[in-house]
Amino acid sequence: MLTLEENEMLTRVGPGTPAGELLRRYWHPVAIAAELPEDNPVKFVRILCEDLVLFQTKKGEVGLLHDRCSHRGASLSYGRVEERGIACAYHGWLYDIQGNCLETPAEPAESNFCRTVKHKAYPVQKLAGLYWAYFGPQPAPAIPKYDVWARTDGWHWLRALPQLDCNWLQAMENSVDTAHLHILHQELVTDGFKVESTTRGTIDNLTKFEVEEFDRGILKRRFFKDGKVEEHPLLFPTVLRQANRTQIRVPIDDTHTWIVYVHFVPDSAEPRANKDDVPVDYRKPFKNPLGVRHPFTKFRLDEVDAQDFMAWETQGPILDRTRERLAASDRGVVMYRDMLRREIKKVEQGLDPMNVFRDPNHAIIDTKMDESLHVGKAGSVTYHVPPKQ
Ligand code: FES
Ligand SMILES: [Fe+2]
Repeated sequence: MLTLEENEMLTRVGPGTPAGELLRRYWHPVAIAAELPEDNPVKFVRILCEDLVLFQTKKGEVGLLHDRCSHRGASLSYGRVEERGIACAYHGWLYDIQGNCLETPAEPAESNFCRTVKHKAYPVQKLAGLYWAYFGPQPAPAIPKYDVWARTDGWHWLRALPQLDCNWLQAMENSVDTAHLHILHQELVTDGFKVESTTRGTIDNLTKFEVEEFDRGILKRRFFKDGKVEEHPLLFPTVLRQANRTQIRVPIDDTHTWIVYVHFVPDSAEPRANKDDVPVDYRKPFKNPLGVRHPFTKFRLDEVDAQDFMAWETQGPILDRTRERLAASDRGVVMYRDMLRREIKKVEQGLDPMNVFRDPNHAIIDTKMDESLHVGKAGSVTYHVPPKQ
C-alpha cells in the first residue's frame, strides 16, 4: 500500500514531477517511422504530458517541437513543411528542427525579430522502425543497445497496440507480476498444462517463481514442473523483454499510455543492412466503444494483450494504491516501486539513474533473448510469427 503522496510521486509524468523527471533521462519511442510518409510528414504526438509535433522537412530532417506555436499558440500540427522546417499555418512563423525561428513573415524584414524567438525542440533518432526522442537535460545519452534493438543478424517487426487509457505504472507493475500470466491468460498461454480449476488456472504448472534485481532491472524466473526454468527481464524503467520482443511502454500523459513491441527475428548469419522497411502489425481495438473507460466500454478477451488491457484499465485511470492489499506474490511490484524511488532520488541528486548509457559505442547488451527462445515457454514460439501483410 502507498500513501496518496507516494502514489502521486510514482505515477505523474509531467515536467517537474519526480517520475516525470526520471523518465526524461531516457529515450522513448514517439512514433512509428512509417507514420511520417513523404506526402503527409506531420504528426501530433503527446508524450510525458507534453503536446508535440513530429515532422520531416523536405530535406529529410526529422524534428520534434512543442505543438503550440511560440507566437499565439496555434497548433503546428497543421503547419506547412518545407526545406528549412515547418511553418505555422496561422501567420507563417517558420521553425527548423532545433526550434530556431527562421522567419516571421508579417514582421519588417530588417527587424530580425525572428532571431529573438526560440521554440522548444527535442532531439530525435530513428531505430528499429521507430522515431525516438529524448526530453531531458543535455548532453543526451545513447539509446541502450539492447540485443533486441541493436542486433543486426536478423530483422525487426513492430506490433502497435491501441492506446491504453490508464496510467503507465499499471502496465509496468504488470511486467513484474508473474502470477497473473497463469490466471488471467490461462486459456491462451497453457504451455501444455491442462486447466482443471479456472480459479487456479495454470499456476500449478509451476513449482515456484522468483524475482531478483540485476544490473539492468528485475529478472522474473519461473520454475516449471517439467524442470524447465524460464526467465525474462524488466529493463528499467519502461521495457519488458519477453521471448524475442521488447514491450515498450510510453507514458502519453498521466492517464494514457502508448505501447509498442519491437520484435527481433534472428535468422541470418550475416548482418542485414536495410532497417528502413520494418513491418508493422496494428492490433485491432481491444474494446468497444473506443476512447471511454470501464464501465462504459466492453473489452474483448480473446487475445493476451486485450486481457491485459482489461485488467489495467479496470484498475482505474490512476490506480488508487492507498486501497490495495498486496500479498507475497506481489514482491516484484514492491521491488519495482523501490527501484523507482531509488532512481528518482539519484536524479534529484544530479546523478544518472540506472541504464543511462553515455558511450554511444557501448557493446550490445545481451538480455539472454536466445536462451528465452530456447526454453520456449510462455508462448515464445508464437512470437516468432511475423505479422500478416
Ligand atoms: S500562431 Fe503561429 S504564426 Fe501566429
Ligand atoms: Fe499479461
